[in-house]
Amino acid sequence: MKSEKFWDKTAQRYAKSQVSDQAAYQKKLSETQSFLQPDMRIAEFGCGTGTTAVHHAPHVQHIDAIDISENMLSIARGKAKEAGIDNITFTRGTLAEFGAQDESFDVVLGLNVIHLLPDRQAVITEVVRILKPGGIFVSSTVCLGNSALRYIKLIAPMGNLLGLMPDIFILKEAELESEMTRAGFSIERQWNHGKGGIAVFMVARKQCAQRH
Ligand SMILES: C[S@@+](CC[C@H](N)C(=O)[O-])C[C@H]1O[C@@H](n2cnc3c(N)ncnc32)[C@H](O)[C@@H]1O
Repeated sequence: MKSEKFWDKTAQRYAKSQVSDQAAYQKKLSETQSFLQPDMRIAEFGCGTGTTAVHHAPHVQHIDAIDISENMLSIARGKAKEAGIDNITFTRGTLAEFGAQDESFDVVLGLNVIHLLPDRQAVITEVVRILKPGGIFVSSTVCLGNSALRYIKLIAPMGNLLGLMPDIFILKEAELESEMTRAGFSIERQWNHGKGGIAVFMVARKQCAQRH
């Protein structure tokens, strides 16, 4: 609820902000698109203002774009309409609340959102459940665990209390890697970007024999 309020309040500002590293953003789009096929169904949780979903929509059959913030979604719906995109369904809530059927998606996207999740491992497990065997999980996650910025955890609770910062969870890239592997993914692409390489982009494949 607190998180939802923060993102509702931030939505307009977020929509106006520039992508901080255009080269990395374009690389993420094109690497993701190299895995897409016209008959695929995608789920994106934490879709924000929908920019990425709008980029990918022409390359797939359908995208379910999910976010806890109604204000983010309302901007996203506007962007899709303006771009003439009609194969994205926007739904408010978390991935668990969305309640997708088992093995119903070819690709799941979770971009700039995993470090904001209080229940990160449950969400990763949910991604495994809803992906088809061999399906792809594309994520981009801020990993502050090995950076000097990890001390943000000392001020984050106050920033959060004042509504100036979202909940941020400090994790190490190696932790994320092992959580993904334990959940049943094999990591096919992994590279860093952002100042000091604090963000990690991953393309992980659900192993075919994986049971959830
Ligand atoms: C930093 S923004 C990233 C938005 C977009 N993915 C991007 O890369 O620009 C984080 C988004 O995740 C959403 N969010 C935060 N916690 C969430 C959760 N538990 N489930 C779904 N969305 C969530 C926020 O409302 C916000 O729109």
